[in-house]
Amino acid sequence: QVPSITLNNGVAMPQLGYGVWQIPDDETASTVATALEAGYRSVDTAAVYGNEKGTGRGIARSGVPREELFVTTKVWNSDQGYDATLRAFDASLDRLGLEHVDLYLIHWPMPSHDRYIDTWRALEKILADGRSRAIGVCNFRPQDLERLLAETDVVPAVNQIELHPQFQQAELRALHERHSIVTESWSPLGQGRGLLEVPAVVAVARKHGRTPAQVVLRWHLQLGLVTIPKSANPSRIRENLEVFGFELDTEDLAAFAALDEGRRLGFDPSTFGGTI
Ligand code: A2P
Repeated sequence: QVPSITLNNGVAMPQLGYGVWQIPDDETASTVATALEAGYRSVDTAAVYGNEKGTGRGIARSGVPREELFVTTKVWNSDQGYDATLRAFDASLDRLGLEHVDLYLIHWPMPSHDRYIDTWRALEKILADGRSRAIGVCNFRPQDLERLLAETDVVPAVNQIELHPQFQQAELRALHERHSIVTESWSPLGQGRGLLEVPAVVAVARKHGRTPAQVVLRWHLQLGLVTIPKSANPSRIRENLEVFGFELDTEDLAAFAALDEGRRLGFDPSTFGGTI
């Protein structure tokens, strides 16, 4: 059983979810069903991933009751703006085969397009209509969040950002905490690149008799974050859920603290989306 975090509007969100970025649509039904059978109750997709249909099919195939699930999707950059976002949301629900989602997010701020305030108004309408149980953002920088908070009514429940031991985002986490915004980590495993071979991570894993991925996920959980590791592989999907029977100690956490390089693996929100 995955513990939940309570969002700022009272909705409970599982602290660990299954991310489907980069999984082809025709494989997603089976990986989502595997994840739900293994015990995940939260799935994170996005319109741009092209696998909302597969996600919906996997949910249906699993037989898990809808009310036990927490489903997140996101509005893509080219659909920002009030009317376009409402249309994009309808299309996402349609592809998912659902009547509501649990969390709807703005995927990127695209500051140079200056549309995220209008987009947010559409999310506020979706929330008011009960078609998403919570709304939030992704990849918002401090200045984007400050502007959103100043100019709109609903405080985002979540900011989903790139976050892993080599990119720890302390400044944003502190800002989120001040505004009761939950921090959600994308690419929590550092995209499975070098992080899982870093000697300090391997050492902590050995000490606990766990895998590097498991101790990295444990680090996210102990920081109070929501995290959504992606895997297309059934045994790794299950491995990433086996992170509740042990705890990192202060020595382990200090070793992780020293790994921050302040360097992104993914796109920079200041510039990404500027070319649509
Ligand atoms: P795969 O899908 O073949 O399992 P992130 O969530 O940080 O973006 O990381 C996803 C990447 O990490 C994918 O390439 C995934 O590969 C890999 N990965 C996921 N879980 C594990 C794990 N438990 N051990 C090693 N690599 C993993």
